[in-house]
Amino acid sequence: MLRDKSAAPREARFHPSPLHAFKRLLLASALGAGLILSAGGAAAQAQPSPTSPSVEGQGQRFFNKVCAKCHEAGIGPVITGRGLDPVVFTTIVRHGNRAMPAFRVTDIDDATLQDLAAYLSKSPAKP
Ligand code: HEC
Repeated sequence: MLRDKSAAPREARFHPSPLHAFKRLLLASALGAGLILSAGGAAAQAQPSPTSPSVEGQGQRFFNKVCAKCHEAGIGPVITGRGLDPVVFTTIVRHGNRAMPAFRVTDIDDATLQDLAAYLSKSPAKP
């Protein structure tokens, strides 16, 4: 299953748009500014503080946002519920494999990738 990286076709490489990243940055700073503006208000204090997402949730979220676009859509094989070893996920995601694009550390950081691998290897089979 694991083949030499050089065997992967060049055009299969994944290039996320820098514009998209910039938009996310803008959105993040807009949200940050909103939080600061509302922090002095009584309403903000009355609200329950949003629970910070657990590390577990990050991998799952990445799967739903990115991997599932192919792997839950018939483009890539089903990868949930197969009890695949976490190393299978970390290796294939970083290096790609034939039609599977490689993801760089700027696409998915190591912590999220580890979490994603743990999540997928433990995920239950679909009914
Ligand atoms: C652009 C579509 C696409 C995306 C996005 C994608 N994959 Fe894939 N993936 C594929 C395809 C197609 C294959 C089959 C490659 C082949 O054998 O030629 C594959 C194969 C795999 C395999 C090997 C499965 C097997 O049975 O051989 C794993 C593991 C995998 N992908 C994990 C992931 C993970 C984790 C993510 C999210 C980080 C992801 N993929 C995102 C298309 C995608």
